[in-house]
Amino acid sequence: MKDPLSSKKRFLNALNRIGVDRPPIWLMRQAGRYLPEYRKIRGEVTGFLDLCYNPNLAAEVTMQPIRKFQLDAAIIFSDILVIPHAAGSELTFVENQGPILTPLKNKNDISALDFTNITERLTPVYEAIKITRSQLGEKTALIGFSGAPWTLSSYMIEGGSSREFLKLRKLAAEQPEILQSLFDGLETAIAAHLIAQIESGADAVQIFDSWAGILNTLDFDRWCLDPVLRICERIKNIYPQTPIIVFPRLAGIRYLNFIKSPVVDAVSIDQTVPLNWARKYLSSSLAIQGNLDPMCLLVGGDRLKSDVYKIMEVFGDQPGFIFNLGHGVIKDTNPENVEILCKLIRSWPGGG
Ligand code: CP3
Repeated sequence: MKDPLSSKKRFLNALNRIGVDRPPIWLMRQAGRYLPEYRKIRGEVTGFLDLCYNPNLAAEVTMQPIRKFQLDAAIIFSDILVIPHAAGSELTFVENQGPILTPLKNKNDISALDFTNITERLTPVYEAIKITRSQLGEKTALIGFSGAPWTLSSYMIEGGSSREFLKLRKLAAEQPEILQSLFDGLETAIAAHLIAQIESGADAVQIFDSWAGILNTLDFDRWCLDPVLRICERIKNIYPQTPIIVFPRLAGIRYLNFIKSPVVDAVSIDQTVPLNWARKYLSSSLAIQGNLDPMCLLVGGDRLKSDVYKIMEVFGDQPGFIFNLGHGVIKDTNPENVEILCKLIRSWPGGG
């Protein structure tokens, strides 16, 4: 009998659109507050950033969902906001409020940031990757990540989470050259951070553009597609074999803008993207990752099962498909539902 595929091979094959025994599975926010073992470690440190910058604890938290659910890929435990923080933005995470940053108000605030050598300030992330790599061995894949410039700018300009993104959208419409100066620094920093993660042992990287969906259509390429492609090009110039997953969340029909690029290997699709549309228009050029509604994972039961099967009926036999959610695991999710989900995928197609 042939040896079964290792998780890492299954994940990398799927990213390269090579056939696999069954789709690989991992989940955005697979490490986090829905896990009691995460809450325990989180309780031992003061701030969330203390956890991100403690290599041993970050590696431990990364490993928790892998040990519990045998997912095919680990994602290093960190946050997209470590880049603004390393560039000099003040950053705190307030319970139930999310991140708070000193908002960038003008050109001077932007030029006061230092985007060069951010990797020197982010060495704890790379240490965490090295520790995780040695614990995972070569059987399970390890994903590195970063935010995209548009999403990082949203937190930096607004000073935290936002509903309407009025300051960011006003700046983009009124003084695009000022926003571009922030993007120039961010693009350099993001590419350097992703390259350093690859050099520390990441097998693939994902770029989160969580707020891509708020861009108007005429501005989409300027602030989402083009900067993300420039970052991918910088990475591919050095590591052409390392797969890159892009997640322009809620981009709708504009997911199509990514299909012509040779530097993007996969798109992560949110739960609003129709499955047959994605299969017809995206999957001939890109690997697809997604797109179970995190709410179905939270409610569990028959609803979870039927939505998983609907996705698997369209994508289960596709060579370039990775099972994931359309966004991160919701904090009140019962870990048992994650166990059930993993069993459904592992037993496909015999589990119906
Ligand atoms: O398991 C994983 O997916 C890896 C870890 C990870 C975290 N954040 C840990 C985290 C990843 C990949 C992220 C990405 C991230 N961070 C994104 C992009 C994905 C998305 O959700 O759209 C964004 C926008 C952020 C910024 C951020 N970090 C916000 C808005 C918040 C507060 C909201 C919240 O859920 O609390 C965070 C905090 C954060 N990042 C937590 C975790 C586990 C919770 C904080 C805690 O445990 O105290």
